[in-house]
Amino acid sequence: SSFWLVVPAAGIGQRMNAECPKQYLRINNRFILDITLSRVLDSLSFKGCMVPLNSQDQWWPASESARDGRIQTCVGGRERADSVLSALLALEGQARNDDWILVHDAARPCVHPEDLNRLVVALAAHPVGGLLAAPVADTLKLASDGAVPEVCETVDRSRLWRALTPQMFRFGALKQALLLCLDHGQSITDESSAMEFSGKMPALVEGRPDNIKITVPSDLALAEFILGRQ
Ligand code: CTP
Ligand code: MG
Repeated sequence: SSFWLVVPAAGIGQRMNAECPKQYLRINNRFILDITLSRVLDSLSFKGCMVPLNSQDQWWPASESARDGRIQTCVGGRERADSVLSALLALEGQARNDDWILVHDAARPCVHPEDLNRLVVALAAHPVGGLLAAPVADTLKLASDGAVPEVCETVDRSRLWRALTPQMFRFGALKQALLLCLDHGQSITDESSAMEFSGKMPALVEGRPDNIKITVPSDLALAEFILGRQ
């Protein structure tokens, strides 16, 4: 079966509070989206790549990626899951049900080629698929729900992981899982959640903790530092 890449890039980056969506901020004078796409596309071999963009996007034509013949675009949706589903529907007729889809956030330019390889090798024979994830490092507190939060208890972190991307699932199963969530009004923030909701158990593949999602302004300098060290 073939591999396809989906890079959701239709968000507006509200928490970044910048003058443009964060995927179009620059690190070393390149769009974050261009860094992300070239790293993943150059690390693995894909049959194709679909990038859902915001319907109001004005920046894509200025990207390096717009001139990359490996990349197709489509219009994304209101939530990340809607954007991923629209990419899968745009791949209908090209991808087969048992092909693998790798979904990777546009906002994660620091993903390491070794992690991409490890994910694909680890899951090649897995019935469901899975995701890169990192064990939680901090001590975790469960808070009360009063106006002033107080510690209810310290949560055992030994089985807790942070979900990263890429997340890798079969085309047909992922599409069905996302449609099922949509049907049930189930809000989800990653593909694994959709698979879990449809009763599947995705595998956790340990990845580097520096595969950060650029979310708030201070993440920009952090990502530049991480990319410079790799
Ligand atoms: N994304 C998308 N479609 C949406 C929302 C998000 O394709 N409707 C993409 C973003 O472009 C990003 C990835 O999903 O690459 C992860 O989402 P997030 O970090 O939440 O990005 P934004 O939604 O843009 O940021 P914010 O939540 O702060 O507005
Ligand atoms: Mg968001």
